[in-house]
Amino acid sequence: MEGGDPVTQAGPAVVDDDPGGLLPVSGPGCPDVALRNVSKTFGEDTRAVIDFSADFVHGEFVSMLGPSGCGKTTTLRMIGGLEDATEGRIYIAGEDVTDLPPSRRDTAMMFQSFALFPHRTVFQNVEFSLKMKGMNPEERTRRVWQMLEMVSLADLASRRPSDLSGGQQQRVALARALIGEPTVLLLDEPLGALDYNLRQQMMVELKKIQRETGITFVMVTHSQQEAMSMADKVIVMSDAVVQQIGTSREIYEHPRTKFVAEFIGNNNIMPGTIRSHSGSLVFVESFGQVFYVRAPDGGEPAPVGRDAWFSVRADLMSTGERPDLANRIEGVYVTTEFLGSLETDVFEVAPGHYVHVEQHRSASDRAYDPGERETISWAANAGVLLAR
Ligand SMILES: Nc1ncnc2c1ncn2[C@@H]1O[C@H](COP(=O)(O)OP(=O)(O)OP(=O)(O)O)[C@@H](O)[C@H]1O
Ligand SMILES: [Mg+2]
Repeated sequence: MEGGDPVTQAGPAVVDDDPGGLLPVSGPGCPDVALRNVSKTFGEDTRAVIDFSADFVHGEFVSMLGPSGCGKTTTLRMIGGLEDATEGRIYIAGEDVTDLPPSRRDTAMMFQSFALFPHRTVFQNVEFSLKMKGMNPEERTRRVWQMLEMVSLADLASRRPSDLSGGQQQRVALARALIGEPTVLLLDEPLGALDYNLRQQMMVELKKIQRETGITFVMVTHSQQEAMSMADKVIVMSDAVVQQIGTSREIYEHPRTKFVAEFIGNNNIMPGTIRSHSGSLVFVESFGQVFYVRAPDGGEPAPVGRDAWFSVRADLMSTGERPDLANRIEGVYVTTEFLGSLETDVFEVAPGHYVHVEQHRSASDRAYDPGERETISWAANAGVLLAR
């Protein structure tokens, strides 16, 4: 760690993420779901999930986000008991359920294809599990109507699923999953089958219903927007490994790893070498200049001389002379990406290396010509050092 021979240690700056902070798995105030060092290997060597530890507390809306094949569904299925964990323990409401079958775990699952009973009405679809439990008819009827009210389906109670829209079918599936009042509802890409507008609407409704029931939801998605807009807690996974757990804001503002910075938001990721430290700042040499970068909270300071990546959000970058901002770099204008009132100007700052500057712009603001030089600036604390 000390600076004896700093330059020989190539490779990324490793900033240890504190895996602590986990709650006791049982007893008062324990989480609804606790995963402890859970891994899953299929066959000899398909490692689908590696060393997953997390707490989902009561009433929390948790989103698991990551690219295809990163282990999201497998994690969800292990919580529900549809897949055995190869290693680790799983606790639900304080009980070790690792070796229990799905029927003895207090979870319900909702999938992308929601498999309603086609010959039963909406009412009967929702009622089914209560009937199986042997609940008396009056109580059953009362509960089903209450649930149908909640998901705004009371008017459609006597329809069959084939006579409903996709969004309405989705709500039947949700009502059916929630009617048994599970401790945890596990949702695997619940909005995946819906078109864009319906998804937006269902996102709001799902969140509202989750709040009203107070049930812990764990939702898998590969839509960043879905995950970030609905969840109290976001888990970003890649290649079977948890990359980061935090609120949407934490993940957006303080991406921990290069993967997260690339995957979430509109970030500029810059390569460099750590030159020195000063309090909460790190000085990183990149493209022949030294930049001020924020050090991550906690963990060991990254060693001087080590190669590192840092990330600066495109919306924290400014063009033009900004003497108030500590970092600046020259770039050559390449193009502008339009997104309504927001525009992203792209500048080449080194051969093949581009910086994105996102800004609100009205028609009267200046436009660049290709090849035009411009200064791009950002504040000392806008950049964040990444772990990998
Ligand atoms: N039953 C199985 N047998 C063997 N390998 C499996 C099985 N189920 C999943 N896998 C593998 O485990 C890894 C994780 O799969 P998983 O379904 O959890 O990914 P995912 O994150 O849900 O992806 P997607 O976004 O595409 O649904 C993948 O490499 C997958 O091929
Ligand atoms: Mg999946």
